[in-house]
Amino acid sequence: MASDVEVLPTAALAAEAAARRFVLAAGEAIRSRGAFVVALSGGSTPRSLYARLAAEPIGSRVEWSRVQVLWGDERCVPPDDAASNYRMAREMLLDQVRVPEANVHRIRGEDDPPAAALAYEGVLRGVLGTPVGPPRRTAGARIDLVLLGLGDDGHTASLFPGSDTAREETRWVVAARGTARPMWRVTLTPVIINAAAEILFLVSGADKAEVVRRVLEGPQDQRVLPAQSIKPTNGRVHWVLDAAAAARIGKEAP
Ligand code: 6PG
Repeated sequence: MASDVEVLPTAALAAEAAARRFVLAAGEAIRSRGAFVVALSGGSTPRSLYARLAAEPIGSRVEWSRVQVLWGDERCVPPDDAASNYRMAREMLLDQVRVPEANVHRIRGEDDPPAAALAYEGVLRGVLGTPVGPPRRTAGARIDLVLLGLGDDGHTASLFPGSDTAREETRWVVAARGTARPMWRVTLTPVIINAAAEILFLVSGADKAEVVRRVLEGPQDQRVLPAQSIKPTNGRVHWVLDAAAAARIGKEAP
């Protein structure tokens, strides 16, 4: 599975390129079956992507009434907390576009983490029409687009180094926390992420350059670099990087 990597000169242009891919994926899904299921990412990098999706000329190119919004992970805080991925996406995107409230499926970060994870797997199974069993890889029964970021330690979503979450084989959603990040999180696992039609990593900044090189070109070890567990079985992975984050691709290990 070759990842295709797109490098843009600046973080702003990388966000623009990611927004165009979002619009393309949404258009394809809505044209073919009238709905688009997307899992949003958290952290700081997607803020500029959401701002572009919420603004013209890109905003009106998406039929927001037909979009189902999920999250790839959430910090275990209330929805109005500054650390909430839901709050960030709400402020940067959802409050600016017309997604019906019934289509916004947030992770209940305020609940007990394992209970919130179990409940969210139920929500995903409902949205994807798969009440039991493994994820299906057919249009309409899988996530159309999963947005992901990359931590400088090689984590993605809330799949952290040193934990077994990246090697989960059955559960779609688990509670997790990293050694460096003691806050509890709820995260989708590779079980459901790798069933998606399309996965888009948006990564920018020089602080990510070495980990980008290691994830894309280094030895494969999902326990050390959980982002390496993202390998769709019947889908595509795109990496949209700015030049600073791509600066060490093709270089020797330091
Ligand atoms: C989160 C994210 C996480 C994020 C990376 C990168 O909830 O924090 O889902 O996986 O994508 O930590 O974060 P930055 O974009 O802030 O560098």
